[in-house]
Amino acid sequence: MGSKEKGETMTNYNLIATSAMGLEALVAKEVRELGYDCQVENGRISYQGDERAIVRSNMWLRTADRIKIKVGEFKATTFDELFEQTKALPWENFLPANAEFPVSGKSVKSKLFSVSDCQAIVKKAIVERMRQHYHISGWLEENGPLFKLEVALQKDIATITIDASGSGLHKRGYRTGQGEAPLKETLAAALIMLTNWTPNKPFVDPFCGSGTIPIEAALIGQNIAPGFNREFISESWEWIPQQVWEDVRLEAEELANYDQELDITGMDIDHRMVKIAEENAFEAGLGDLVKVKQMQVRDFTTPKENGVIIGNPPYGERLGDKKAVQHMYREMGEAFSILDTWSIYMLTSDEEFETVYGRQATKKRKLFNGFIRTDYYQYWGKRPARDI
Ligand SMILES: C[S@@+](CC[C@H](N)C(=O)[O-])C[C@H]1O[C@@H](n2cnc3c(N)ncnc32)[C@H](O)[C@@H]1O
Repeated sequence: MGSKEKGETMTNYNLIATSAMGLEALVAKEVRELGYDCQVENGRISYQGDERAIVRSNMWLRTADRIKIKVGEFKATTFDELFEQTKALPWENFLPANAEFPVSGKSVKSKLFSVSDCQAIVKKAIVERMRQHYHISGWLEENGPLFKLEVALQKDIATITIDASGSGLHKRGYRTGQGEAPLKETLAAALIMLTNWTPNKPFVDPFCGSGTIPIEAALIGQNIAPGFNREFISESWEWIPQQVWEDVRLEAEELANYDQELDITGMDIDHRMVKIAEENAFEAGLGDLVKVKQMQVRDFTTPKENGVIIGNPPYGERLGDKKAVQHMYREMGEAFSILDTWSIYMLTSDEEFETVYGRQATKKRKLFNGFIRTDYYQYWGKRPARDI
């Protein structure tokens, strides 16, 4: 295995963008917008692409969890089958002789259910292949670049992947502080992409906590790549030329629209969260763009029109909290009732939300916030006169 020089032909890989449950269509849309045709399954979007596609996917996908490379997929009902078919895969195309390659695993509805045995067998098969290929008789040193492998068995089909992201893609690198129930950055981006917000409209998050939603809105508003401020595990792999990383970062710099003016405000009742949100916005390089204020939602008024409100309020799930939270929802409904040109979007697990808030949603969409089943209640504002 040698490193590629600039201009050398790129290889095509089977790629998977993993997705949280319910966000698959959004991830697929993003993958297509990057120019890759894709297939959608539960929790994963499959497509083909070269080294540049791996780098661009890591850099640009706002709603995907991770980028993985699928090395092989095959039926395996015995340990022998798992061993032989893993060994038959071209591991030397991915792993240098000194690669460090831990193997994790999972098994669902499969004859091979002992995950630790499956991991050990996959590891052994790859070691044997590598020894033969690199002519190594003793131990593999494993003191080189890191490749995180996974063997996932689903209904007796083994899929073996390499993680090309490292830390999950939600880790953008800006969130240094957070509150009690921070939203994942990938879900925050999804909530924004599900609205009719465009960068010329006012944007408000009345429950901003650590600022995740307003910060993601500012990144989207100025077309800043979500991965611009972080590193990826695949940056240390020698078969992805450094030049590709440099080109993709340069392209991201060129595509960012720093001149786009934005009117984005985050608010929170808790002054400590206001400070954390300000620090995070500053860390993201958006300190001047995201305004943060201490305010209770019931006090919100605005003379502006055609704005968008997105909120991730407390859900009142803890014993004894529900009454107070529903009281707050009621006050919010009253405060927002006059904003008839604004579109309002709220994510909560409270199934009585519409009744308490005082209005039936135009539309609602089931989403998972981690393991909590929530609904995204959408109230579309009156269209501006010029649109009708
Ligand atoms: C679930 S957290 C939001 C988390 C945020 N999306 C993030 O990623 O960090 C809810 C926030 O609402 C704030 N909050 C609670 N009651 C409020 C009220 N009446 N008005 C404004 N903010 C309130 C809390 O202080 C908390 O920070």
